[in-house]
Amino acid sequence: MSVTKTLFGKVNDEEVYLYTIMNKSGASVALQTLGAGVHAINVPDRDGKLADVVLGFDNPADYINPDYGYQGLSVGRWANRIRDGKFIFEGTEYTTPQNQGTWTLHGGGRFSFTNWEVAETGENFVTFSRFSPDGEDGFPANMTMKIKYTFTEDNILRIEYTVLADRNTVANPTNHTYFNLSGVDGETVEDHSLQILADYFTETDASQLATGELGAVKGTMMDFTTLHKIGDRINEPFRACLGDVGYDNNYCLRNQSGDFALAAVLQHEGSGRKLEVFTDLPGIQLYCGGWLKRDYTVGKGTNLVTYRRGVALETQFYPDALNIPAFPLWTVKANEAFKTVTEFRFSVI
Ligand code: BGC
Repeated sequence: MSVTKTLFGKVNDEEVYLYTIMNKSGASVALQTLGAGVHAINVPDRDGKLADVVLGFDNPADYINPDYGYQGLSVGRWANRIRDGKFIFEGTEYTTPQNQGTWTLHGGGRFSFTNWEVAETGENFVTFSRFSPDGEDGFPANMTMKIKYTFTEDNILRIEYTVLADRNTVANPTNHTYFNLSGVDGETVEDHSLQILADYFTETDASQLATGELGAVKGTMMDFTTLHKIGDRINEPFRACLGDVGYDNNYCLRNQSGDFALAAVLQHEGSGRKLEVFTDLPGIQLYCGGWLKRDYTVGKGTNLVTYRRGVALETQFYPDALNIPAFPLWTVKANEAFKTVTEFRFSVI
């Protein structure tokens, strides 16, 4: 195993670096200091041919345009939506930026769009770190978040988030990588098969905000309890899916224990590549890139970031759990490390 550091480019006059972890087989993961993000993942198909299975950009500045969908970036302090940019925590009301309509999306601020420090590297890991002062984007407590990425000989990318804060607070970090296991430019993810270990999803209103109700997947297009193609039902009209966006929904995982368990399986029959997602969090956002425009011209070479080109599987607490007491939430206690782990395990069918 080895880690190589290279200069990616400059954003706002700051140098952005890539750290590439490569294993003995030649498979690799490139991580970027900007947004403590995943820049590339090169893994083999069934014939051993390596291809990059994540979307992203050649130009680092494209990563900080929120319209391009947080490609590969770490997201926080609170992933997904907060209704009206407000929540009450331990008796005090906090106000977060209304960066989408009247709500907060993905923390509303700088978390994903700044250069993170590199705290540590080892032969198969890189740890990014960022200090967020009390009140940054409205959230309580001085906090340091560390994100440790480890890549193994058997093609497992492990992401460990550790939060340390000086008083009680909340955190909902996730990673916003868009996968396309085909490794083929221009192919959508509709041909990928997906299974999600969830019987319910969180119902949403016309603004895509959680209502607090849970909907049963059974008998609807939301049902991924068995492995089948994303494209089978993605175009059906459904109350929790807007226009032609398709899937952009939070699933309530069967595993609500906080233990680490399998959450989802994604596979692409053509290439034979398979991805299993493991997490200790109770929810996962299935987002198939339906808000990305068909005419975007940015990406990596001819591999463009456009409509339905990638699927994000964002492990998380449920959207707006800060305002919906019935939703599961474990909070950050003062001076106690809060940890959560997600793994992306690559293999072939
Ligand atoms: C959200 C989408 C959003 C995307 C990129 C996802 O987590 O659910 O609505 O477009 O992130 O910001």
